[in-house]
Amino acid sequence: MKFDLTDKKKPSWDRRQISVWKYRELLPVEDRESIISLAEGGTGLHKCRRLGRKLGLKKLYVKNEGENPTGSFKDRGMTVAISKAKELGKKKVLCASTGNTAASLAAYSARAGMDCIVLVPKGKVAGGKMLQVTMHGAKIIQVKGDFDQAFVTALELTKRSRELYLMNSLNPYRIEGQKTLAFEITDQLDSKTPDTVILPVGNGGNISAAWKGFTEFEQLSIAKTRPRMIGIQAEKASPIAKAVKRGEDKIRPVHNPETIATAIRIGSPVNWPKVLKAIRESKGTAETVTDSEILQAQRDLATLEGIFVEPASAASIAGLKKLRASRRVDPSETIVCVTTGHGLKDPSILDRLPKSQPGYNLEITDRTSLDNLERVL
Ligand code: F0G
Repeated sequence: MKFDLTDKKKPSWDRRQISVWKYRELLPVEDRESIISLAEGGTGLHKCRRLGRKLGLKKLYVKNEGENPTGSFKDRGMTVAISKAKELGKKKVLCASTGNTAASLAAYSARAGMDCIVLVPKGKVAGGKMLQVTMHGAKIIQVKGDFDQAFVTALELTKRSRELYLMNSLNPYRIEGQKTLAFEITDQLDSKTPDTVILPVGNGGNISAAWKGFTEFEQLSIAKTRPRMIGIQAEKASPIAKAVKRGEDKIRPVHNPETIATAIRIGSPVNWPKVLKAIRESKGTAETVTDSEILQAQRDLATLEGIFVEPASAASIAGLKKLRASRRVDPSETIVCVTTGHGLKDPSILDRLPKSQPGYNLEITDRTSLDNLERVL
């Protein structure tokens, strides 16, 4: 039986383990036999005291989506969308991706026994993600150009062939799965909505999905309020943040977007109307961050809290830092930064670490005495 949003009685959620499928009554899969799962969701909401102190914040949390099975938040949407694809009898799935959607789709389609095709911008996908896609046996099409061109090609292909099923965030079932991020945050804070939620924004699916989730919990009277939604983009790939800053109700696409955070290297995000709506309805905002701010935030989170995230994810922390410096967030607010993907996805960052980082250049040779070593430790 489906759960009616107007019915105020919630299912026996308290007795279920936290996960995407805990909220199955609010998800669009009818037949439980169709569910393809790798234990997604249930990611940690980590209170960050050391980083909080540095930023002058008392209640800072990181919702670490890198703890999902393929290392990113994409698994929330993918478990639901692949299960639905199975229910609908689909055999061949397709997506354009900056890497994480591709890695997630490759894993879930392998588990479902479906053929998988991914289109990625040539030379612009982090090594860990390419390894995942290859390992899971997906067909990889490298498109010359950026994500936006890969996406247009994927759309064309699905228009031409009826057997291909598009799994980008335009697919409504992906958004349905991703909204569980908001459900979990609310649950982990004992039904208290945070004041502010900060997310990195690329194509805009995740922030829109989270807003949908918070809205549904408010409609169900599980939560009393909804948070302020703040989207962070990389400076040279920031059409949405720019539209918000200019007070415009349309985006101006960015040609040749560029950032070290390859996951959010997107100049023409398809979900922009929903993102602007979420930001405006929630009285939120958007901000841009530079690559060096992103890299610094990535190291701060790793060295102060033990949480290793990929550059795109660190954008949420870098954005928070900027908002704090300009007093757009208050020290007493409950803030949740969503970190979207695991740091191991992108080992190329090793080359960008400052060589002065402690431990970076410690070499041991046959003639290094223990006395010498002791002196530098
Ligand atoms: N963070 C990471 C690590 C991502 O991989 C993405 C998007 C985002 C943030 C932005 O999320 O697009 O919903 O606004 N990655 C997509 C992909 C585009 O193909 O993997 P969004």
